[in-house]
Amino acid sequence: MNYFKNKNVLVTGGLGFVGSNLSIALAGKGANVLIIDNMLPRQGGNLFNIEPVKDKVKVNISDIRNPISMNHLVKGIDYVFHIAGQVNHVDSVKNPLNDLSINVEGTLVLMEALRTNNPDAKVVFTGTRGEYGSSLKLPVAENHRINPIGIYAITNFAAERIILTYNNLHKIKSVCLRITNTYGPRHQMAHDEYGVFNWFIRKAIDDEVIPIFGDGRILRDYLYIDDLVSALLMAAVSEKTAGEVYNIGSGIPLSFIDLANKIIEIAGSGKVNHTEFTSERKALEPGDYYADITKIKKELGWEPIVMLDKGINETLKYYRKNKNKYW
Ligand SMILES: NC(=O)c1ccc[n+]([C@@H]2O[C@H](COP(=O)([O-])OP(=O)(O)OC[C@H]3O[C@@H](n4cnc5c(N)ncnc54)[C@H](O)[C@@H]3O)[C@@H](O)[C@H]2O)c1
Repeated sequence: MNYFKNKNVLVTGGLGFVGSNLSIALAGKGANVLIIDNMLPRQGGNLFNIEPVKDKVKVNISDIRNPISMNHLVKGIDYVFHIAGQVNHVDSVKNPLNDLSINVEGTLVLMEALRTNNPDAKVVFTGTRGEYGSSLKLPVAENHRINPIGIYAITNFAAERIILTYNNLHKIKSVCLRITNTYGPRHQMAHDEYGVFNWFIRKAIDDEVIPIFGDGRILRDYLYIDDLVSALLMAAVSEKTAGEVYNIGSGIPLSFIDLANKIIEIAGSGKVNHTEFTSERKALEPGDYYADITKIKKELGWEPIVMLDKGINETLKYYRKNKNKYW
């Protein structure tokens, strides 16, 4: 059943990596998609990202922190995917107040706009696995201790709690996802300040050195963007998800060094070089992480289907074709 046909859907941050891939999927399902994005510098906003659906979606270049815009734009919306955020880890350290402003105040403005203008909309929020901080037990389930290390993760957790409070207090049906490292087409490729997987892809395509901090044995969990998009869609339409938090990941641990070698093998170019952690990176490094995705599997029947080799191949194909739009 196509739940999105003729539905009005708002995607904040819809010109970025996650938001644009989601918007393309929604437009394909016949939804009326409205994107709000402020094209924040040094982030993933890129008009080329929505090239395949540019005549099908509406784009409003505005800031989620502007209550005048938001009060108007949320009217008549059935589903809100709240994806806009300050995601640049380096900027987050240099300018933490900007994280607070975008991730926390921006979320509050959106939820207030919904409370006063459209409390019947369903909200899906894209939070981060960073909310857990260092893992006490692997794989990490939703009831794991919350202990975010950096300001980015702290402000994501605050946003999650605000959204769940509006769910509980004001009955605005909302679901929050804690998402692992996601990769694939339409991620920014200009710098390595966030999105390590895609940065490795760029280095391999350019036949350059992929820098690996330390011995590269730290484990992470990597998810292909199409699998994240299917999780977002399922979380939105399910009646069971209001007030819930779900981990989204592949659940499969992979070290940085094994990831780099796999990308090099498939790309046929690139090389690895081990370097010392910078003090900034070391301080923000939470160590091993991979997700326990039992809850979403059991409750929604979602599970990732794109295997690593296929995901890497698709990503390489996209950037080789569209390199000039990303670097
Ligand atoms: N990509 C991942 O691996 C990953 C993992 C976990 C969580 N997330 C979360 O998913 C969300 C999207 O991440 P992404 O990878 O697509 O990043 P991205 O940088 O590609 O996209 C973010 C978008 O938000 C927009 N934006 C920022 N501030 C805004 C504001 N005030 N008003 C309107 N638009 C604004 C930016 O212009 C950009 O287009 C973030 O909230 C991030 O925390 C992503």
